[in-house]
Amino acid sequence: MADRNIQVTLANRPSGWVKESDFKIVDRDVPKPGAGQVLVRNLWLSLDPYMRGRMNDVKSYAASVQIGDVMVGATVGEVVESNNPALKNGDHVLGYYGWQRYGLSDGRELQKVDGKAAPLSAYLGTLGMPGLTAWFGLIDIGAPKPGETVVVSAAAGAVGSVVGQIAKIKGCRAVGIAGGKDKCAHVVTDLGFDACIDYKAGNLMKDLAEATPKGIDIYFENVGGDILEAVALRLNPFARIPLCGLISQYNATQLHGLNNLVLLLINRVKLQGFIVSDYVDRAPAALAELVKWVAAGKIKYRETIANGIENAPSAFIGMLKGANVGKQLVKLA
Ligand SMILES: NC(=O)c1ccc[n+]([C@@H]2O[C@H](COP(=O)([O-])OP(=O)(O)OC[C@H]3O[C@@H](n4cnc5c(N)ncnc54)[C@H](OP(=O)(O)O)[C@@H]3O)[C@@H](O)[C@H]2O)c1
Repeated sequence: MADRNIQVTLANRPSGWVKESDFKIVDRDVPKPGAGQVLVRNLWLSLDPYMRGRMNDVKSYAASVQIGDVMVGATVGEVVESNNPALKNGDHVLGYYGWQRYGLSDGRELQKVDGKAAPLSAYLGTLGMPGLTAWFGLIDIGAPKPGETVVVSAAAGAVGSVVGQIAKIKGCRAVGIAGGKDKCAHVVTDLGFDACIDYKAGNLMKDLAEATPKGIDIYFENVGGDILEAVALRLNPFARIPLCGLISQYNATQLHGLNNLVLLLINRVKLQGFIVSDYVDRAPAALAELVKWVAAGKIKYRETIANGIENAPSAFIGMLKGANVGKQLVKLA
């Protein structure tokens, strides 16, 4: 039987928590490449928190997904039919084909990746967008100096796990904040952070004070809400906050800002939001460093893998609720 292109489209714009019924599974013919086009069988799909924002109809740094459109997302796949001389069958490519089993395009946006140099899935995680986010946020905005204390929230996740390990490479004290004992054990034992605070244990302020005896010089912000509120109380003068994400707010109907803004003023704190795509010109140099650190065993990573495109919605919701350790992926083939 001929293969099918199973897609996941946006069925409804969620209000509050996203639900599986906000997505629709659609069964289509596998498209045929026209002149100059390339057909890619997607092998891996990346699930990322930003996708929740794309489900809303609001102005942002990127366009929303329209109702009925395939959900957006980065993919790694294999060229299976090519009318483009730059790409041949069997080439592995990083693309942005979204939540579907096949992708068709003129190939201009595709980037070849080497499955022998690293597992293909790594190009969606530590050696891809999340790893680069950690690198640019920490190194460019955080500007870590040896001996400083770096705190990162969502520390067991795709971005946070890399942030803490780079902090260690740079000679800093790395403190993670993550949900649950098991995640914290992973962050300290497997990833080599100096400490990890389980924010679900109910002693955030006390645990944070114990883990940061010299205060906090860099807070890599992935979460917002109560965690930002607690961290703000421990910031040192001239601390830096790379504002990477605010995942606690993505499904919230009432937004939680920072009540203690005055602490940023009196401590002369630099807070800077950033989007990793702003750094595209410098990505190759940062990636080369990440590749070197992974090869040397200085950066380790985990993946949480869902199987089959039909399971992308539940895996996505699970990731937003913290079911993942490390990078959340969907294995498509
Ligand atoms: N600025 C950029 O260019 C850029 C690029 C990539 C990612 N990001 C942002 O970086 C952050 C991490 O992304 P990621 O891809 O690495 O995801 P991830 O950390 O692998 O997965 C999301 C994690 O967020 C945590 N979380 C969810 N709700 C939370 C809450 N209310 N309070 C505390 N933690 C919560 C969960 O971990 P726990 O079990 O620990 O709660 C969950 O595992 C997100 O905010 C994302 O939007 C920004």
